[in-house]
Amino acid sequence: MKTVVVYKSLTGFTKKYAEWIAQELKADLLVTKEIKLLLKYDVIIYGGSLHAVGISGINLIKNNLKKLKDKNLVIFTTGASPVKQSTITDVKNNNFSEEEQKQIKFYLFRGGFDFNKLSFKYKIIMTLFKWKIQLTKNKTPEEKGMLAAYLKPVDFTNKEKIKELLEYVYLLE
Ligand SMILES: Cc1cc2nc3c(=O)[nH]c(=O)nc-3n(C[C@H](O)[C@H](O)[C@H](O)COP(=O)(O)O)c2cc1C
Repeated sequence: MKTVVVYKSLTGFTKKYAEWIAQELKADLLVTKEIKLLLKYDVIIYGGSLHAVGISGINLIKNNLKKLKDKNLVIFTTGASPVKQSTITDVKNNNFSEEEQKQIKFYLFRGGFDFNKLSFKYKIIMTLFKWKIQLTKNKTPEEKGMLAAYLKPVDFTNKEKIKELLEYVYLLE
């Protein structure tokens, strides 16, 4: 099975998981917006960072699901907050219809947060988000963690977490 890992990463956390996965699967590793580059592969693994319930760059896959109907599709996203089943469900439902979900296997990994590495546009968005949390009464542990991460970058990436994804891909072969 020819496998490719393609990713979009703003500050390096998704990149790290993509590199680990590609290395373990001896897969090609790409950063591209061109679907035609992916069509020669049997297994396509896409990774993008979590933005609210959106997955950065996911339109590359979403807009081409018909072309990819015979491929094995694996999508992963990385977020700063701890992994929760409810987030997995929300992200899946927000990005893919019930029918589309049958075509993909989905994983959420914990990434990290590094405000200083964000582009100007995302610094503005995330500053507004910080103000919103600051104004929230009775902050959740996740909100408190997020505020702390603005002051000091956090990295929760963990190679162990890719095991389940790797096993899924091995079983395709
Ligand atoms: C606009 C924006 C929205 C985000 N929303 C979330 C979120 O809803 N939940 C979460 O856990 N992390 C969120 N994050 C944090 C990123 O998902 C996290 O830093 C990710 O690991 C970054 O991966 P990257 O460096 O590959 O882009 C957000 C980051 C940005 C810039």
